[in-house]
Amino acid sequence: MTTAPAATNEFEPRYASRASRMKASEIRELLKLLDQPDIISFAGGIPDPALFPNDVIGKAYADIMADPKQAASGLQYSTSEGYPPLVDWIVGHMGRLGVPCTRDNIVVTNGSQQALEFLGRLLLSPNDTALVTAPTYLGALQAFSSYEPRYDTLTPEKGNRTPASYTEAAAAGGGSVKFTYVVPDFGNPTGETISQAARQSLLDLSAELDCPVLEDTAYAALRFEGTDVPCMQAMDVARSGHIDRSRVAYLGTFSKTLTPGLRVGWICASAALIRRLVLIKQASDLNCAAINQMVMHRVATACYAEQVQKARALYRGRRDAMLAALAAHMPVGVTWTKPEGGLFVWVTLPPHVDGAALLKRAVAEAKVAFVPGHAFYADGSGRNTMRLSYSLPSEAKIADGIARLAKLVG
Ligand SMILES: Cc1ncc(COP(=O)(O)O)c(C=O)c1O
Repeated sequence: MTTAPAATNEFEPRYASRASRMKASEIRELLKLLDQPDIISFAGGIPDPALFPNDVIGKAYADIMADPKQAASGLQYSTSEGYPPLVDWIVGHMGRLGVPCTRDNIVVTNGSQQALEFLGRLLLSPNDTALVTAPTYLGALQAFSSYEPRYDTLTPEKGNRTPASYTEAAAAGGGSVKFTYVVPDFGNPTGETISQAARQSLLDLSAELDCPVLEDTAYAALRFEGTDVPCMQAMDVARSGHIDRSRVAYLGTFSKTLTPGLRVGWICASAALIRRLVLIKQASDLNCAAINQMVMHRVATACYAEQVQKARALYRGRRDAMLAALAAHMPVGVTWTKPEGGLFVWVTLPPHVDGAALLKRAVAEAKVAFVPGHAFYADGSGRNTMRLSYSLPSEAKIADGIARLAKLVG
């Protein structure tokens, strides 16, 4: 019998300095343990697979493979910019959002996660500053952190600091402010939406700092109620007169509306920025899988609007169930956001309650899971917060899970 060699890593001394910022999050490790059927999980935040348009997707693959010409291009290398008919669909979609643009303004990415990674790679030198909200999307922090930035904090609704204050802090940190990053609609993790006035101020701040705005719109289509707020890119194009003069890079994705499985997202930005990003795309993975883009084009053309309606109806019911259960069961001293769309509610616990410690007890004693909030803070603060997602459990399970969780908090 042979024994496995002891786990050593002789490569470690050779790692680049950026590797020191690439850590498995303690939370992701913990969440791996939660795949047990008896756990009610508010942790994931992934779309409900019951919504995936399996039939339309299956037929699209079958039709492509049944046509030798289409199959040949679907299984071949393809252009780094993206599959032209899909790019045309995206151009039309951006036009409907108030951003007139052309093919030259789009690059297709493997989800918006790849877009975040590319923009970090393009914009950040070590010690540069990325301006982010606190909390913000954990995956963005992971994507940016490989490029060794420092972070400073945006507070869009309260009013941001002065441009000079950000610039001075960035210079003291050894670099300059390279971009502002926000998830303006039903953000991950808080579920909150940045108001139109606050978007305008953020555009003003970014103009004064002369830096790009990365607008991550992963959940923007999932509005259940309230009034639509224009995307920041549309507001900026209205100010500057043309997409090629816009400082906003719009990150779009089909993940929360159609399916994350095909890994299709996009960046819409000035043609000059897109040309640079296309070079990064070439260096990174040449192109997104042509067949997945062909399928996504067919699916988006066949049922985008219908899928969005279905998703809104399903998640709205679950959001209602979660807000009702929180109101019914949470003790005084606990507060939470009331999202008008998206997949998340953000809970602030009394100051002495630690979200990570609560998760351990919640899993062991109540069979309920969530994500402790501190993971979403660049500086690790926010210990008394948690993110609850209502995207997967049924309304009945949501009611039951929140009641069980509240007993541990009270
Ligand atoms: C705010 C935000 N941005 C980007 C992503 C990445 O999504 P994808 O790469 O599937 O488009 C997610 C995924 O959860 C997200 O929550």
